[in-house]
Amino acid sequence: MNIALIGSGGREHALCQKIFESPLTNKVYCIPGNAGTSRIAQNIDIDIFNFKRVLQIIRLKKIDLVIVGPEEPLVRGLVDFLSKKKIKVFGPSKFASKLEGSKAFMKKLCKIKKIPTAEFKICNNISQVLNFLNNSKLPIVVKADGLAAGKGVSICKSRGQVLKISKEIFKGKFKSSKKLILEEFLNGEEASYFVITDGTNIKFFGSAQDHKKVGEQDKGPNTGGMGAYSPAFIINKDIEKKIIKKIVEPTLSSLREKKRPYKGFLYVGLMIKDNEPYLIEYNVRMGDPECQVIMPRLKTDIVKIFLNTLKNKLKETKIVWHKKKCMTIVLCSKGYPGSYKKGKKIQNLEKLRLDKKTFIYHAGTKIVNGSILSNGGRVLNVTSIGFNLLKVRKKILSLIKKINWKYGFFRKDIGWKVIK
Ligand code: AMP
Ligand code: GLY
Repeated sequence: MNIALIGSGGREHALCQKIFESPLTNKVYCIPGNAGTSRIAQNIDIDIFNFKRVLQIIRLKKIDLVIVGPEEPLVRGLVDFLSKKKIKVFGPSKFASKLEGSKAFMKKLCKIKKIPTAEFKICNNISQVLNFLNNSKLPIVVKADGLAAGKGVSICKSRGQVLKISKEIFKGKFKSSKKLILEEFLNGEEASYFVITDGTNIKFFGSAQDHKKVGEQDKGPNTGGMGAYSPAFIINKDIEKKIIKKIVEPTLSSLREKKRPYKGFLYVGLMIKDNEPYLIEYNVRMGDPECQVIMPRLKTDIVKIFLNTLKNKLKETKIVWHKKKCMTIVLCSKGYPGSYKKGKKIQNLEKLRLDKKTFIYHAGTKIVNGSILSNGGRVLNVTSIGFNLLKVRKKILSLIKKINWKYGFFRKDIGWKVIK
């Protein structure tokens, strides 16, 4: 089969590698891809939001299956558009993608289905904000309703801060929506849990712990993710059962009742407290960098899994995982998540010899005149698999040392809460 993968991050390089390894794959196209994907796929640099152009390419290259990696094309309806044109495409519909695209939609669904989540109020004006403030304790979490590229959530320690941020959102700080959600602050341990679903059947698709803060010991501003490990040790069998019964099943049944079944990956962002899972957020895709630590643990042919999901045959599909643990450390451009320079050469990368347990997934990279240059804030995901996370981390750190990229920085303490 010819397969096209939409996206250009570390998540897509990790997915691309698995698709490339499948015996069912003839050729992989990455739209637009990065320097890493260009070694195993043909990159096609077009605007992924120009759906007609995407369709043209898919027809031109005789593509049999399309996989959509990031949230924005999903939320904007790429899957609906391509499906109408009879293209086989993996990912949730525009309606189902509102689970990530509208926090108000997601919270209303939680309320109707009694899904455990933070207490909240959807606000359209400042008097609703004042009303919530008068009846709740600090800190309060303010969330923009729509997609905000990871910048839509603020944890506020003062009422003044809540009011300031709320006013900015009402004024249109985020183009996607002028609504906001105020939420009670949940204490606990965060974890990411993944499933794949054909709308009815649900299969576990890995768990991970991301490290969102830029600094060691989880200090400083939020980022897209500075590193992760899989599995998430905090999720035991008992918690897992609760995640499925109390959170995932009622969500999927709600969408089925609306005759809009959910098909694709579902990322369940959780806060775990006293052995109870609370839903913080849904994402309608794999996580980044979580995907980079889940893919190396997957034994089953990913293309077979995609095809069976599309045929509603997930129930018959056995998904097998390596017992080994996996870690990734993200090498970022200096200055990220603030401003940073692009176009800096990464010299030593292609000289590295990687064993079978080590993977370097590219994120913000591109090739210019045969050289690999940085092209984003998160640049490389240096990843390794093994039974002992401390040893795995040491191996990754020694590789990063060999890369010795003077324009980059990284966290040395990924996994600090579980590595003694
Ligand atoms: P979200 O985009 O909803 O995942 O929020 C981004 C981050 O903000 C999460 O990963 C949490 O660390 C934090 N967060 C969001 N909602 C809450 C909440 N209700 N209580 C505590 N932390 C939260
Ligand atoms: N790692 C966070 C995310 O993918 O949204």
